[in-house]
Amino acid sequence: MTAEAPPGASPALENAERRSPSRRGRVRKRVAVLYNVDYEDVQQGVDPAWEARAQICSVAAGVAAALGDEGHEAALVEVDGDLPRLRARLGEIEPECAFNLCESLANDARLESAVPLLLELLGVPFTGSPPEVLSLALRKDKVKQRLEAAGISTPAGRVLSRPGEACDLPFPLIVKPVREDGSVGVWRTSVVHDAAALARAVDAVVTTFRQPALVEQYIDGREFNVALLGHPTPRVLPLSEIDFRALPDDVPHIVSYDAKWTVGSADDLGTVPILHPILPTAIAARVRRTATDAFRAVGVRDYGRVDVRLGATGIPYVVDVNPNCDLSTGAGMARAAAAVGIDYPSLAGLLVRYALRRRRVDDPAVTPQARANPPSSEAAARPPLAVQG
Ligand SMILES: Nc1ncnc2c1ncn2[C@@H]1O[C@H](COP(=O)(O)OP(=O)(O)O)[C@@H](O)[C@H]1O
Ligand SMILES: [Mg+2]
Repeated sequence: MTAEAPPGASPALENAERRSPSRRGRVRKRVAVLYNVDYEDVQQGVDPAWEARAQICSVAAGVAAALGDEGHEAALVEVDGDLPRLRARLGEIEPECAFNLCESLANDARLESAVPLLLELLGVPFTGSPPEVLSLALRKDKVKQRLEAAGISTPAGRVLSRPGEACDLPFPLIVKPVREDGSVGVWRTSVVHDAAALARAVDAVVTTFRQPALVEQYIDGREFNVALLGHPTPRVLPLSEIDFRALPDDVPHIVSYDAKWTVGSADDLGTVPILHPILPTAIAARVRRTATDAFRAVGVRDYGRVDVRLGATGIPYVVDVNPNCDLSTGAGMARAAAAVGIDYPSLAGLLVRYALRRRRVDDPAVTPQARANPPSSEAAARPPLAVQG
């Protein structure tokens, strides 16, 4: 048994990361930090994902401050359902890059990809994953198909649209909304051991979220969060394990909605993330490999977190792939990055550099202004710029 990637033994930082500590001599960039404000439209307690949506406001403030520390000029941009207004605001700011923290629009997570789509249209490079990957990741059933097609272990699952619908999987099972994230719709009652409880859990999802439920084989084992950074070959940051020991005995060992969003709740206090967990070296390597394969199979870009549960035979099962994962300072990505010497401002700055690098690769000379005034056909016929650096 070894402690996974002990502190101080992390591999050498890659070039882009190594540049981070010195914050002098940087090229100052105008960065628009985009975040959704749809939590303002609904009262707490009415939207079952309210806490998850509201938290993005403080993440955006933290990211803007971090970018300021890195020498960038960050402008906070609230995003509601009014895309023409967003377009106008971006026209005023003329950002060289957008830091995309939008996770939903009009209280509907399905619309989150509208923002990066607009940014693509405007030619503004943005942090994180492209719209099609965000849309895919939000469909847990589709992600499962993608993982299965790539030969990556993931719990067997079925989509049920009605409470009484038959399900051929053996108990225990877990029931989750098919297209939410952030543990939205994952409660203690989501883990079920018989048909009656299954029907109740499916009913709760269908009634509360007006969408089908994904019913999955429940993997009763250790849970690891694997943060990955970089593209196309991501670097695996130190593993983190959820320590469930402080949960009451009769409660399933899962990261429920309360665990994630209700600070001080029993579920929160009973799900403690531990960096550098102790586990056999071969299993740690298997967990890292599985997470990397899942990251790539889903097409995650720049940063993301893969949640893995360890089956009884030591097989890591992917339960969740999170592009544009939670970037709050206390969340897994920031903690894992800090463990290899990438502090919060450096992490924010790094994600901006990844986005700006893309502009050279994908969109030579494309700026919002250039989109509005397309180049002549002669200029357009020139080959794209070579990739540099
Ligand atoms: N198949 C499963 N077996 C065991 N626990 C699971 C399974 N699926 C989800 N969970 C638990 O529920 C939590 C939330 O589920 P997840 O699929 O990650 O949803 P979300 O996308 O909302 O984060 C996980 O962190 C894990 O604790
Ligand atoms: Mg998850």
